[in-house]
Amino acid sequence: MANELLKGKKGIIFGALNEMSIAWNVAEKAYAQGAEFVLSNTEVSIRMGTINELAAKTGSQVIAADATSVDDLKNLFTKAMELYGGKIDFVLHSIGMSPNVRKGIPYTDINYPNFIKTLDISALSLHKILQTAYHMDAIKEWGSVVALSYVAAQRTLTGYNDMGDAKALLESIARSFGYVYGRDRKVRINTISQSPTPTTAGSGVKGIDSLLDFSERMSPLGNANAEEAADYCVLLFSDLTRKVTMQNLYHDGGFSSMGMSQRAIEQYNKSFEDCPGD
Ligand SMILES: NC(=O)c1ccc[n+]([C@@H]2O[C@H](COP(=O)([O-])OP(=O)(O)OC[C@H]3O[C@@H](n4cnc5c(N)ncnc54)[C@H](O)[C@@H]3O)[C@@H](O)[C@H]2O)c1
Repeated sequence: MANELLKGKKGIIFGALNEMSIAWNVAEKAYAQGAEFVLSNTEVSIRMGTINELAAKTGSQVIAADATSVDDLKNLFTKAMELYGGKIDFVLHSIGMSPNVRKGIPYTDINYPNFIKTLDISALSLHKILQTAYHMDAIKEWGSVVALSYVAAQRTLTGYNDMGDAKALLESIARSFGYVYGRDRKVRINTISQSPTPTTAGSGVKGIDSLLDFSERMSPLGNANAEEAADYCVLLFSDLTRKVTMQNLYHDGGFSSMGMSQRAIEQYNKSFEDCPGD
């Protein structure tokens, strides 16, 4: 069964911007396991990023779609179904953006049109993708949809701003739609709650370097990287996880179950020793 976990499976992968992207890693791993897929991103990200290189490597088509536009999504699913001569097997939602985070606006001074944009891009887009697929009956029985989340949905982490609210909504949509899609069509929907990861979106978060360091020290297995996240996504697209649905699955080296770790305490004490005058 070597390298055949996704043999014959067809999918849509949203969110590969450049080789750091979690979606890029998923595409490479899915391709290595025999999957075929369409790559999708916004027109701007296709122009600014390097998705066409990934398409060439994986023999994929790139179809532009703004995941907040239902018309774009209808067009994307129609084209993907034409390409594969029928329904698809998996979808990766690896989409996130907060104008408030990007502009460094603190949570207490939040700009509401920006907040709505954050929610639309980072959470409602999952509902729009699922609703489009559901009405078009675009996903096969036992198909799998995975979206990327973060522990800021459950715990407050300074700097994550309105993205924490967006992730809480994202996870809730996965559960709510997961029930209906599972009941009616046997399609499973899960979120993977990933460690902080050095990517373009990740580097927009205020204090990401300290967060990466803190999280690394707190996690008994250390932070999970993008390649490891991709392995987990492939497993969830595969037939080995057919009865897993409506779950938020932590992929974070153990971080989410920790209170305090020895390594974090040592660093905390050291930061006082290093602070001159204290
Ligand atoms: N990097 C981290 O620390 C981290 C941790 C946990 C979860 N995640 C999540 O993983 C996912 C992927 O992010 P990443 O870290 O790979 O960063 P990334 O910047 O490589 O990917 C984010 C993608 O979202 C796309 N996007 C933005 N607006 C869009 C729109 N309107 N329509 C379609 N696509 C749009 C971007 O073009 C980009 O490709 C996001 O949901 C992110 O929140 C990231």
